[in-house]
Amino acid sequence: MARMIRHDATGPQEVKPQDKSAWICMCGLSQNLPHCDGSHKLAKQEEPGKCCVYDKDRKSVVEVRDDV
Ligand code: FES
Repeated sequence: MARMIRHDATGPQEVKPQDKSAWICMCGLSQNLPHCDGSHKLAKQEEPGKCCVYDKDRKSVVEVRDDV
């Protein structure tokens, strides 16, 4: 499975060492990048072998394509 997400950031964001664990978003769906906000739960609907295209707000799938 794969997903297409529009990103508009043009540079990095510093994540400073913290006393407790910090969870960095790896799915690209967080509304609080670079931190995970639980939005990865949306990815559970994605099917293997398909590519989900998300809307500009990264909140819903607008198209499902074959993953090439
Ligand atoms: S890994 Fe992306 S929101 Fe959790």
